[in-house]
Amino acid sequence: MRIGTDGIIAVVGAGTMGAGIALVAAQAGHAVRVIDTQDAALDRGRQSVAKSLASLVKRGTVDEAGAAAIAGRIGWSTDVGDAAPAALAIEAIVERMDVKIGLFEALARHVAPGAILASNTSSLSIEAMAAAVPGAERFAGLHFFNPVPAMKLVELIPSSRTAPAVIDDLEALMRAWRKLPVRVRDVPGFIVNRVARPYYAEGFAALGEGIDPATIDQALESAGGFRMGPLTLADLIGHDVNYTVACQVFDGYAGKTRFRPQPSQQALHDAGQLGRKTGRGVYDYGAELPAPPFAAPAAAPRRIEAGTDAGDLEALVALAEAV
Ligand code: NAI
Repeated sequence: MRIGTDGIIAVVGAGTMGAGIALVAAQAGHAVRVIDTQDAALDRGRQSVAKSLASLVKRGTVDEAGAAAIAGRIGWSTDVGDAAPAALAIEAIVERMDVKIGLFEALARHVAPGAILASNTSSLSIEAMAAAVPGAERFAGLHFFNPVPAMKLVELIPSSRTAPAVIDDLEALMRAWRKLPVRVRDVPGFIVNRVARPYYAEGFAALGEGIDPATIDQALESAGGFRMGPLTLADLIGHDVNYTVACQVFDGYAGKTRFRPQPSQQALHDAGQLGRKTGRGVYDYGAELPAPPFAAPAAAPRRIEAGTDAGDLEALVALAEAV
């Protein structure tokens, strides 16, 4: 069943990811129902959508009326029964297998038998979840990235029970949402979290060794060419999510050392300093953020000229001219 713009999308979890997914679905023209157990989370989700829409208006991407129409397509509720008319229900709740399974059992009681169920899990096994989801042939992993409106990539993860048509439908839907879907195998961390884990781990290892966090981030951003340093990025993701994923991937690869979770991140997690969402993580978001501790390297020169006699450097000049 292809999901057109008349298909209702339910998003369960109004946090960092759920609010972003709801916005993207509403921008694509769907009626969206966001469900969360916490009224406060729904309020924060609504505010986050309003803030994103205000910045789109400011940039001229949509006009006021368009933004109001997008916001008007999103309903907010604490009742999972409100997912009933959904053609697709996307779960974006706490990263715990037992809680996610409980939610899918509830969703399966409410939605139509043909509706697709998807999990935004970062690190839990889709195969293990599928074993407990009623009607597992219409269930798959659908992994968005943070911030959802900006990040194109979406990982599509079938279990061995997923009907191929369900993956085809999700892929077509993601393209309609202007995302870049990739089909990936159900391995710990899928592709991105497997590749990215050592990036965070090295950042936190350096932090644990006493290196100034702004220096670590600036080094990776300016010299390494990354859009965000590992500590700034982990603060954006949230240390509850990021540390849990680190532990899952480490366990999933039987404790391979390059995936080892770092004590400096565990300390933030245990202290409830979860990053931007709690106002404090590696950095204190209530205070002024530290200025970059050193200047970014100068851009590479557009032209290199050598005099007629480069002496011992002749071989180097020849190489430079060849590229
Ligand atoms: P979050 O902590 O910002 O939001 C989770 C929301 O789920 C909270 O509002 C909470 O009240 C709600 N919730 C918890 N149990 C619930 C239940 N049984 N029914 C309804 N609502 C419930 O978490 P975030 O960061 O949005 O992550 C959600 C999921 O997305 C996790 O599985 C995470 O691994 C995944 N994810 C997170 C990314 C990130 O950068 N934060 C990136 C990609 C995936």
